[in-house]
Amino acid sequence: MEFIDFANINKKIKECDFYYKEGIVKKVIGLTIEVEGIRAFIGEVCNIYNEKNNAITCEVVGFKENNVILMPLGELIGISPGCRVVPSGKALNVKCSEELFGKIIDGLGKPLDDEELKEGTPYLLDSEPPDPLKRRRIKDVIPTGVRTIDGFLTCGEGQRIGIFAGSGVGKSTTLGMIAKYAEADVNVICLIGERGREVRDFIERDLGEEGMKRSIVVCATSDKPALVRLKGAFTATAIAEYFRDKGKKVILMMDSVTRFAMAQREIGLAIGEPPATKGYTPSVFAMLPRLMERAGMSDKGSITAFYTVLVDGDDFNEPIADAVRGILDGHIVLSRALAAKNHYPAIDVLSSISRLMSEIADKDHKATASLARDLIATYKDSEDLINIGAYVKGSNKKVDMAINYIDKINSFLKQKVDEHTNFEDTVKWLKSIFT
Ligand SMILES: Nc1ncnc2c1ncn2[C@@H]1O[C@H](COP(=O)(O)OP(=O)(O)OP(=O)(O)O)[C@@H](O)[C@H]1O
Ligand SMILES: [Mg+2]
Repeated sequence: MEFIDFANINKKIKECDFYYKEGIVKKVIGLTIEVEGIRAFIGEVCNIYNEKNNAITCEVVGFKENNVILMPLGELIGISPGCRVVPSGKALNVKCSEELFGKIIDGLGKPLDDEELKEGTPYLLDSEPPDPLKRRRIKDVIPTGVRTIDGFLTCGEGQRIGIFAGSGVGKSTTLGMIAKYAEADVNVICLIGERGREVRDFIERDLGEEGMKRSIVVCATSDKPALVRLKGAFTATAIAEYFRDKGKKVILMMDSVTRFAMAQREIGLAIGEPPATKGYTPSVFAMLPRLMERAGMSDKGSITAFYTVLVDGDDFNEPIADAVRGILDGHIVLSRALAAKNHYPAIDVLSSISRLMSEIADKDHKATASLARDLIATYKDSEDLINIGAYVKGSNKKVDMAINYIDKINSFLKQKVDEHTNFEDTVKWLKSIFT
């Protein structure tokens, strides 16, 4: 007689899903929707059907007793108590392919020109960073075309850098220059929480037709729901990962990470997290490394990332700036004082650092940059005295030298937006200051 393995059959039956799971909307509080009757995982996409049977896409963001808390990826309008809720069993993903080049897509990966993407490999918005032991070491320079960065803050392929500044000091303009001039195969540009007007400005003025050709722009403006703004950052990162997996040299730019943090704060507070530093909830500080660790080198390609951080009231120690500085491999600080003097790009060389420059730049280049840095510092210390005529020439050798060279250094540092200098010329120019 054949042996029947009842225990195993029983186990299989228990694992099967015979239910067509559907729940109903119980409550809407602020931005969240409480749903009864479904079992779903965090990050799962659910559809709510309103009375006209139109689907409103939502994501699971938490639980409350036996109920599931959803947040809409669109407008709440049309949702009423008792609406049907159907979990999809899937998390959000974005369709990635070469077709994305030159396109502007929304925070969820849909082209803004309303044309559906034909094909593409689905990439999960939320995924794991590359295995730390499989990441290749950073050893090659990635030229950005911005002299101050290439000369004094040389960036490596696969490095992650923050651009810190108060409002209106030139973060977006600097990103635009990097997008146009940096030597990468693909640019993925993510605009989060910007004003709608700025998106066109950035695309037409800063990026231009030439920059757009090898770029993909992900854009979630400030009027979009917090969840969509948050997803925009993950969508852009997932697209960058797709091209990195194809072995490409990708540059990922995010403007701004502060608005990303603010979106997560909005979500955290809505689902009942306690506010911590400056109202930011603990999940914000957990989310930042989860986003930024995904950039960098993998065993196939690289994502060099530039994240802008808007520092409130020019306070560089505010919590988001602090957290981001700790995660990244370098920071570029833009100074309002320089911008006020019409010194653009307003990069404050003395407060900025690229943690990898010492490993990737050649010896001569490093020595020259370090000498120039010293002279800038010396000049800055004595600037007030020099300007009021109180400094007597000859009283300090170093100050004399700084006064001698400062004009040459400044003309190296100042660069017009439409001016491109390649890496070799930048290094040559820097060295020529002292010869
Ligand atoms: N490299 C530059 N050359 C000339 N002008 C510049 C440069 N960078 C910035 N500016 C000037 O500063 C203004 C603000 O720049 P930008 O929009 O890039 O700043 P931002 O830091 O992104 O501002 P926000 O905080 O509002 O996003 C520009 O409109 C321009 O007038
Ligand atoms: Mg800006």
